Amino acid sequence: MLLDLIVGARPNFMKIAPVIREIERRAAEGTAINYRLVHTGQHYDRSMSGSFFEDLGMPEPHVNLNAGSGTQAGQTAGIMLGYERLLAEKKPDLCIVVGDVTSTMACAITAKKMLVPVAHIEGGIRSGDMTMPEEVNRIVTDSITDYFFTTSDTASQNLKKCGVTDDRIFFVGNTMIDTLLHSRPRFRKPAVWDEMNLREKSYIVLTLHRPNNVDDPANLSHLLEEISDSSGNLPLIFPVHPRTRKVIKESGMTVSPTLSLTEPLGYLGFNYLVERALAVITDSGGITEETTVMGVPCMTLRNSTERPETVTMGTNELLGTNPDAIAPAMQKLLSGQWKKGTIPPLWDGHTSERIIEIISKLFDRKTA
Ligand code: UD1
Repeated sequence: MLLDLIVGARPNFMKIAPVIREIERRAAEGTAINYRLVHTGQHYDRSMSGSFFEDLGMPEPHVNLNAGSGTQAGQTAGIMLGYERLLAEKKPDLCIVVGDVTSTMACAITAKKMLVPVAHIEGGIRSGDMTMPEEVNRIVTDSITDYFFTTSDTASQNLKKCGVTDDRIFFVGNTMIDTLLHSRPRFRKPAVWDEMNLREKSYIVLTLHRPNNVDDPANLSHLLEEISDSSGNLPLIFPVHPRTRKVIKESGMTVSPTLSLTEPLGYLGFNYLVERALAVITDSGGITEETTVMGVPCMTLRNSTERPETVTMGTNELLGTNPDAIAPAMQKLLSGQWKKGTIPPLWDGHTSERIIEIISKLFDRKTA
């Protein structure tokens, strides 16, 4: 059996790393599953890609499609052309895509048209916000996926509502949390810790990269101002995504001295900071899952989430994109009234084992 494992952008790497680890663990026990790790090249900077391979102990990709940046259509087309060429040379038995980035959708479409079955890890989640490219990617990918590995019962229900039959939906938990729990003992103090004299629970971590929040400089500047004005002089550590960096640089924006802008951090360094932070302010989806598992208060600057369990069970609160919502939330945090939260079912560090077990059985059945 040959599996294609597709990665392209930063949040993909932590979702695939534990799947590879499980395949290799089984190989060491004598059960061979072959895989081809395909990097689309959507993210290419060391800070957005290479450092994650090192931090997560991932092997070098077998293939890099070098698609690079571009418009949504240009990037999608580049990835599809590259992957189509690869599939023309050799087809796998199954193409496994993860998450909701452009690489996920582009490779799923290409595989399916070349008659390769598709499995989607993190299938079924929905924000309902069609202005997000990720939501379009999720819906398109799931409309042609054969096997769904879901992170929550809500995701499984979303798929059933679309007519997906039970035998193709597997609620297995969250591979991103496999990586978090596996890596936690190795979290590593990043340079900014000593540079800024940080102390546990006395600073806030900030990340922003959604087009809605960062593409308009006036809006971004207003958000950053509200965040620093309401955070009571606590240091704010802000690892800046390249997209956001570009807007700050090109607009000549000045930011408050309580904000420390850093380059994007590696996985181990970033999560060292998050684990010890008083809170995180973000517009990422994945980070809300990690803060939920580590019990760190999280404020999400979005109007919707595709991960509702981080709000209903976890430590996350949706503040929306209106900067006025930040001050009252910060008040709640600083007066020690943030909710405690619990960990969602099956976010237990063993999801990849369940996935590989299911895939093996599916293929045993097919070849029997
Ligand atoms: C992508 C994902 C998003 C994910 C995010 C995490 C899509 C639609 N979006 O958004 O879901 O949360 O990754 O980072 O797939 N750039 C660099 N170096 C890089 C990569 C990007 O400088 O290594 C710059 C380029 O100018 C590029 C811009 O960042 O145009 C945006 O990159 P892109 O991959 O298009 O989307 P992200 O905003 O990173």
